[in-house]
Amino acid sequence: MSNIVIIGSISMDLVMVTNRIAEEGETVFGESFFMVPGGKGANQAVAVGRLSSPKDHISVLGAVGEDSFGPILLENLKANHLHVNHVGTVPSSSGIAQITLFNQDNRIIYCPGANGLVTTSNWSEEWQVIAEADLVILQNEIPHQENMAIVRYCHQKGIKVLYNPAPARETDSEMIPFVDFVTPNQHECQALFPNQELAETLRNYPNKLIVTLGKKGVTYFDGQEVQVIPAIKTEAKDTTGAGDTFNGAFGLALTKQLSITEALKFAILASHLSVQKFGAQGGMPTIDEMKGHPEYVKRWDFE
Ligand code: RIB
Repeated sequence: MSNIVIIGSISMDLVMVTNRIAEEGETVFGESFFMVPGGKGANQAVAVGRLSSPKDHISVLGAVGEDSFGPILLENLKANHLHVNHVGTVPSSSGIAQITLFNQDNRIIYCPGANGLVTTSNWSEEWQVIAEADLVILQNEIPHQENMAIVRYCHQKGIKVLYNPAPARETDSEMIPFVDFVTPNQHECQALFPNQELAETLRNYPNKLIVTLGKKGVTYFDGQEVQVIPAIKTEAKDTTGAGDTFNGAFGLALTKQLSITEALKFAILASHLSVQKFGAQGGMPTIDEMKGHPEYVKRWDFE
């Protein structure tokens, strides 16, 4: 049984698909619009929830707003096998991500709303929930000082932390000594370790720094060599949330005692499946969908 706590943003994604990006002062026609649950915290939690078994215990800590989105976002988490007893409803709007899908890629403007009001200062039972976790997963869409309070607590208690420094913030380097895994993409890695070659940076953080390379896969230093695990080739429909699927799947696989390499391969397959459908959570696979894929490896058949 895995006990994972995901702490982070829970947002509504307002997605516009367009053939043209508006210039300053210009209005253009969009192709289509959809509104779907998102937020990096919620996405990573849903990725874990869909891949987990009924014996696992997966909790989300965070906040939604006192608006019409709040109850929808909560119901969505529950529908994905997640415990939400410690998701607060706060006097604010819910987090919103305005996403433009253009040319097979996304551009996102994120307004934190309730996510920006997540505070550890009023926590009590929440610390107990964290204390019982095998793994805590964090990203950068709640305030940095709250992330710091959480990682300090986890470090003191010996609880493993997977930290996805997305979107990049100037303060990210403060988090690194307190966490077990850091999973930036190339751009975030550059922001974290400016003026350094990727191979050199990787060598400084063996089995800890995992850099996602988009279509090229993922790379890390195993203590002996820099490893590159290739992505599975595909024509992506929507890459929004691919990184979140990757992080959630990687985290779950680690708690199932898979080696880092195996856990990364598991996560790569999950994110490969996730980009086949629209929406950050739309294509996130269930464990049965993973098992139905030819790249699924039988030895991943964890309980
Ligand atoms: O990682 C993708 C997510 O980031 C989207 O769902 C959106 O909420 C943005 O913040």
